Amino acid sequence: MDSANLETVRAGNNAPAPAKDVKADVNALVALCADDMADVNALILERMQSDVPTIPALAEHLISAGGKRLRPLLCVAAARLCGSDNQHHHNLSAAVEFIHTATLLHDDVVDSSSLRRGKVAAHLIWGAPSSVLVGDFLFARAFELMVETGNLRALGILSKASAVITQGEVMQLSKAFDLNLTQTDYIEIISAKTAALFSAASESGAVAAGAEEARVQALYDYGLYLGLAFQIRDDVLDYESSAEALGKNAGDDFAEGKSTLPLILAMQATQDEADFWARVIGRREQKAGDFAHAQRLMRGCGALEAARQVAEGYAKAARDALGVFAPGPWREALEALAVYSVERKV
Ligand code: IPE
Ligand code: IPE
Ligand code: MG
Ligand code: MG
Repeated sequence: MDSANLETVRAGNNAPAPAKDVKADVNALVALCADDMADVNALILERMQSDVPTIPALAEHLISAGGKRLRPLLCVAAARLCGSDNQHHHNLSAAVEFIHTATLLHDDVVDSSSLRRGKVAAHLIWGAPSSVLVGDFLFARAFELMVETGNLRALGILSKASAVITQGEVMQLSKAFDLNLTQTDYIEIISAKTAALFSAASESGAVAAGAEEARVQALYDYGLYLGLAFQIRDDVLDYESSAEALGKNAGDDFAEGKSTLPLILAMQATQDEADFWARVIGRREQKAGDFAHAQRLMRGCGALEAARQVAEGYAKAARDALGVFAPGPWREALEALAVYSVERKV
């Protein structure tokens, strides 16, 4: 979806703004979803098994390291917000986490990242070929789980998202080290690589609950905007945080020449540094100290703060999308998740 469409969706939403004092507290959501998530986690552990020992060993390395499990939480919460009286969202939630885990295995190979969830990246232990193949295995397991629900519409939503994520990753790859990437290009990339799975998680949860169309659409919108805010925050943290805090290395985006929002805004705001950007991004000539210099420029010109404000706009749009639902604990918990997506430190 291009940014013009995104704006159209947002402008068309006349829902009243929710209360302003929502806290970035996801504990309420985690508590509300606890029983469902116990079943989802059991499914994840059961379905990552295989008689080929490398598969569970490698999958376990990543899955037992935790992760926030945000996408399955989203699927569960969407189903419950829509009053689900069946268990199909358990299969869908486990499938969503498998799709996410598969993309992480692939992404760390593509990004040459060495740390994930506080552990050495799987490709550095088992090699890139095994990492990619176990990613494929988890994708396949996700499809088995989805088929078991018999819900073709949910299967269609998550299948499409799986293709779109890969398109986003390839698009990003083909635009690396590009001095001319625009904010519109960037939003198109992150809509695909990240927001597509968030929106598919919440939309499919609503579909599994048999929700009416306006609610399905609202949860699609919510997931899309939440995913955009979440990825922009991730891209700010890549310049602002540390491996100790994140459990993955800061600076990977700079090293890979990824034109993320902080970089796009900093290049615009510090045009007197054109020689620096032309060397480190345009000609891919990076040396020790360049990342620290880029961080200083970003802080100095306000690019990180400006990116945070863009993320806040999407988080607000996510909260507004929930206006079709009556106030209650599930809606409040999802509103808090939107605030968290921008304020999170990890
Ligand atoms: C990491 O997602 C990939 C991005 C879209 C930024 P998460 O931050 O949700 O990763 P885990 O699952 O918690 O490790
Ligand atoms: C996330 O992108 C990968 C996908 C959404 C498929 P990033 O490359 O920004 O994520 P991290 O920073 O490695 O977690
Ligand atoms: Mg990455
Ligand atoms: Mg990142």
